[in-house]
Amino acid sequence: MRLKGKTAIITGASSGIGAATARLFAREGAALVLGARRKLLLDDLVDEITAMGGTAAAVCGDVCDSGFGEELAETAIRYFGRLDIAFNNAGILRMEPNSTSITPEVWRETIETNLTGAFFCARRQIPLMLSQGGSIIFTSSFVGHGVGLPGMTAYAASKAGLIGMAQCLAAEYGAQNIRVNALLPGGTRTDMAGDFSDDPDAAEMIASLHALKRMAEPEEIARSALFLASDEASFVTGSAMFVDGGNAITKL
Ligand SMILES: NC(=O)c1ccc[n+]([C@@H]2O[C@H](COP(=O)([O-])OP(=O)(O)OC[C@H]3O[C@@H](n4cnc5c(N)ncnc54)[C@H](OP(=O)(O)O)[C@@H]3O)[C@@H](O)[C@H]2O)c1
Repeated sequence: MRLKGKTAIITGASSGIGAATARLFAREGAALVLGARRKLLLDDLVDEITAMGGTAAAVCGDVCDSGFGEELAETAIRYFGRLDIAFNNAGILRMEPNSTSITPEVWRETIETNLTGAFFCARRQIPLMLSQGGSIIFTSSFVGHGVGLPGMTAYAASKAGLIGMAQCLAAEYGAQNIRVNALLPGGTRTDMAGDFSDDPDAAEMIASLHALKRMAEPEEIARSALFLASDEASFVTGSAMFVDGGNAITKL
């Protein structure tokens, strides 16, 4: 068990990559604090993890609310007495036909959820890791780092911002053994990618962007989050780690 005795916060845990990571971290022995807005899904996941012998608590809320990061951190301390790992993974994608049609509301919602929300969480997690070290992971994307796609400017800006943020935090807190990394998934079969994976033509087009000619399953991304969270990545910090099936290097 690679995470035995550790406590982890996972945001965006109600579905997709976050839920898959919660199941995997629980199997690896971590006690979990799971955050998202959809309470029923979170409660079901807590029940599932409890039934398999794991330990988890749900905190329902919105990462755009600056108090939510505090609530997640307080729950980790109140229930489990420590915080070792944070997977700041909550995110949204609002597709627009082109970038000039992105409204101020969509721009702000995207940046606030994907970038500011992750920072609000991290600023409450770091103080809890100062004494014993820890691992913070931000879910970025292949979009915005090596790949640009039409209509995804706000999303790309938010995801590129996470990489810069990870690098600065890694430099600032490395001496306290807090490792901070960005994880860059390729196209992954989750609710977010539903429009692409449900339509066979779109699914084929997205698959073709990857050298492996398919999208990822959320569990494949979860396994990389586990690597970054675990001591196996003890010398990995400040990195932007592609887990993208060769998307970034595929031009045809
Ligand atoms: N799927 C892909 O192809 C892909 C590729 C690269 C990167 N990513 C990134 O991977 C991460 C996870 O996405 P996914 O693919 O697993 O999609 P997903 O199934 O739609 O998961 C998104 C998660 O974020 C949560 N979330 C969204 N807005 C939130 C908010 N304001 N406050 C709290 N939680 C919020 C959602 O929960 P609630 O709705 O319950 O709040 C959900 O649990 C995202 O950051 C996404 O950008 C995905």
